[in-house]
Amino acid sequence: MSESPQALGAPVVRREGRDKVTGTARYAAEHPEPGCLYGWIVPASVASGRVTAIRTADALALPGVHTVLTHDNAPRLEEPDDPILSVLQDDRVPHRGWPVALVLAESLESARAGAEAVHVEYTTTGHDVVLTAGHPGLYTPEEANGGFPGLRERGDAARAFDAAPVRIDATYTLRGLHNHPMEPHASTARWADGHLTVHDSSQGSTTVRDSLAKALGLDRDRITVVSEHVGGGFGSKGTPRPQAVLASMGARHSGLTVQLALPRRYMAAIVGHRAPTVQRVRLGADRDGVLSSVSHEIATHTSRLKEFVEQAAVPARVMYASPHSRTEHRVAALDVPSPSWMRAPGEASGMYALESAMDELACVLGIDPVELRLRNEPQTEPDSGRPFSSRNLAACLSEGARRFGWYDRDPQPATREEGPWLLGTGVASATYPVLLSKSAASAHAAPDGTFRIEVNATDIGTGARTVLAQIAASVLDVPQERVTIAIGNSDLPTGSVAGGSSGTASWGTAVHKAATVLAARLADHPGQLPAEGITATADTGEEAAQESPYARHAFGAHFAEVAVDSLTGEVRVRRLLGVYAAGRILNPRTARSQFIGGMVMGLGMALTESSTMDPVFGDFTERDLASYHVPVCADVPDIQAHWIDEEDPHLNPMGSKGIGEIGIVGTAAAIGNAVRHATGARLRELPLTPDKLL
Ligand code: MOS
Repeated sequence: MSESPQALGAPVVRREGRDKVTGTARYAAEHPEPGCLYGWIVPASVASGRVTAIRTADALALPGVHTVLTHDNAPRLEEPDDPILSVLQDDRVPHRGWPVALVLAESLESARAGAEAVHVEYTTTGHDVVLTAGHPGLYTPEEANGGFPGLRERGDAARAFDAAPVRIDATYTLRGLHNHPMEPHASTARWADGHLTVHDSSQGSTTVRDSLAKALGLDRDRITVVSEHVGGGFGSKGTPRPQAVLASMGARHSGLTVQLALPRRYMAAIVGHRAPTVQRVRLGADRDGVLSSVSHEIATHTSRLKEFVEQAAVPARVMYASPHSRTEHRVAALDVPSPSWMRAPGEASGMYALESAMDELACVLGIDPVELRLRNEPQTEPDSGRPFSSRNLAACLSEGARRFGWYDRDPQPATREEGPWLLGTGVASATYPVLLSKSAASAHAAPDGTFRIEVNATDIGTGARTVLAQIAASVLDVPQERVTIAIGNSDLPTGSVAGGSSGTASWGTAVHKAATVLAARLADHPGQLPAEGITATADTGEEAAQESPYARHAFGAHFAEVAVDSLTGEVRVRRLLGVYAAGRILNPRTARSQFIGGMVMGLGMALTESSTMDPVFGDFTERDLASYHVPVCADVPDIQAHWIDEEDPHLNPMGSKGIGEIGIVGTAAAIGNAVRHATGARLRELPLTPDKLL
């Protein structure tokens, strides 16, 4: 392989790609040891109440069953920083699926048989699991996820709406959604010489290490968490999950290595979900489509355990100019599993509603939906008044329209037919904030001319190793092949979570700084390096603590073409095209994968994915990939991701914005708007399954 001189911006192939496709890359449940124990949890079979008795004799009598841990005999935990980690500590059942016992056995099969033989008795108190827009438990939280204010008001949105000559008042309903990464959540925990080592399928092993230290009452230097390869997470592995605590408790209790992989059927209740939302959007505009009032009000649910509020009204604070605005979240605590992060929490839900409403306004006015958006471009961020560091939404819309062939369309709905199929096109905007978290890195120069970068980044499928090597190589001005990268281990310099589309910015800034210091010190060493080489370290504490004077967001535009079968109601997406403005694209090969991955997930949100809350059973009904339908390659024959070159000096040393999440934002709206164009039917509830179209 020839060495590339300057690698940043080049389509460098994934460093771990060969390991993954040849099966040598090992995941969290692939560290078995002779004599290790396998865990299987017993999930609560009521939605609310208390455990009154657990009888374990039958389970313990089965061959191979070693131990059954319950709240009676499990090791005591300190209060964890996240209540969902407080497992086997008391008799309370906050939701169906909550772990009430852990069986440890010599094989996976014995553990499962043991779990089935555990008899649990409950008292139940009746449950309340159904979110409605008028739920009496709804209240306005101080903050929504991400620390955003629960409520923001500017001017008098209600009065401006009433006075507007053109008004849209529409309510959009989204069910819950689940992440369902390919690799289920899993941990392998081992105690040796007073040190706990956990292989955990996580988006950030520094965070898992810190949480385990708190829960187990241990110093952090007595715990190592390894997340070497991770088969997707999408947010569900962004916070520590109960299997890491349970495996660690089991290992401590038994003195043996314990492996606990969650069966997919159990994931729905304990790894988080995108909470359902009922979203009312009111837009007031003049006859030219210029907005005078934007109001976006969300109702959503959280669990009894903790307050997590899907911040779906937040993008309306960023997107369009309007002198009057009201954005409010309201949440009700129900007897449901705890919601959490799922790819673009807030933006994915909120932009479905806002971008559908913009399309409704365009239809009412007879203005092209691209043109309507351009007419409402703000000069500064509407909510804060801050200048944008860069905002190239207009360029994304124009470039996307050109590439897609947007203007060939007849705006009249239900006019394009092809046999039984009705064809239509739709557009929606996308936005995602630029985030930065605290990370540290070290950069080492060896006398043989090679370099080693250490940072506890996590590769959840993004190719993090590769882009970090490119960043280091570009600073050191050496071929990226000469740089080795160590990630995925909490003993490495602190790394932030691979979440919030902030990984490359956060780890990369630390790597860039450490490599810059190293390069300066190498310049002082023109001759042979000392035998031990030279090491430099840096962290991003300063950058992460700074409030930018700029509003920093990535933007994008999604275009969709759909065919709707007028006989069966089936919707097929024929084309999806996204154009993004996300700063500098550091590796077009891996970036493209993230963009199109997000778009495919948006397609799933639009057409196939939903988690239905069963009011009687008290839990989500879809709990496997046979019932929770994630799209496959055949679901979208033509998918394209493009970007515009964006120079933004107000971001980070690489000039990059995050790209992991923006692909899902607005995609469902573009598809819904295309379905409206194809059929004339405006649906306001996802997913757009055939029953809704007939
Ligand atoms: Mo993502 S939902 O920030 O892991």
